[in-house]
Amino acid sequence: MTRILAITNQKGGVGKTTTGVNLAASLAAARRRTLLVDLDPQGNATMGSGVEKRNLAATVYQVLLGEKRIADVRVRSEQGEYDLIPANRDLAGAEVELVEIERRETRLKDALEEIASDYDFILIDCPPALNLLTVNGLAAAQALIIPMQCEYYALEGLSDLVQTIKQVRGHLNPALEIEGLLRTMYDPRNTLAQQVSAQLVEHFGAKVYRTVIPRNIRLAEAPSHGMPALKFERHSKGAEAYLALAGEMLNRAAAVQ
Ligand SMILES: Nc1ncnc2c1ncn2[C@@H]1O[C@H](COP(=O)(O)OP(=O)(O)OP(=O)(O)O)[C@@H](O)[C@H]1O
Ligand SMILES: [Mg+2]
Repeated sequence: MTRILAITNQKGGVGKTTTGVNLAASLAAARRRTLLVDLDPQGNATMGSGVEKRNLAATVYQVLLGEKRIADVRVRSEQGEYDLIPANRDLAGAEVELVEIERRETRLKDALEEIASDYDFILIDCPPALNLLTVNGLAAAQALIIPMQCEYYALEGLSDLVQTIKQVRGHLNPALEIEGLLRTMYDPRNTLAQQVSAQLVEHFGAKVYRTVIPRNIRLAEAPSHGMPALKFERHSKGAEAYLALAGEMLNRAAAVQ
């Protein structure tokens, strides 16, 4: 059974892409067949996977518009040892062009059905917006991973997201669940971070991953070398945290079965 997870939070810079790249590499290291889908015109997940976004003949953009089969735009992240559906700036136009197209919210879902059986995990890196691209991500996913920084406005942003999830359940994807909330860039010495973290656990209980991603410079440096932290510096705190997250996800899944 393929597990399809969208990594989403409409707030920018909370660690969505860092989570996409490093979790994909960690699941691959655990011998799970993994696909990462870049659904952001910024193309950060593409670059972070070691794939030059400017040299691509085709991306997820052509897939969403029905101009290419998804299998034909798929590339390999050699550094991450997972497959990638890349994106670049072309995708910025998709928002407008999709409006004219039938079943515009489920273009990605329909495309993924063609290749889903090749994978144990498909991770979708969503852009920082509640737009039609994100809706495609939410419609295609079975569940959501929500990275968040434990700061003052984090919980407020979360209630917007919970509203969106309710709408998507109503219209497009009744079974959509929250897989987990992930505390990112965490500094345990920061009192506010501790308080927000405690509130998060109070509200969402076991939905909050026990694994916490610390603020770690290697996680920020690795993308400029086009590799996950696991490859860049295996024993960094950041790489180890994402390996632990993959372990926690796999254990949870095993406990459910
Ligand atoms: N745990 C961490 N420690 C240190 N730096 C981090 C960590 N996680 C992410 N960063 C850095 O913070 C910045 C934002 O992270 P990232 O790009 O993953 O967020 P994002 O949610 O995908 O952003 P966007 O909303 O723009 O897509 C990046 O420069 C990244 O390298
Ligand atoms: Mg991003």
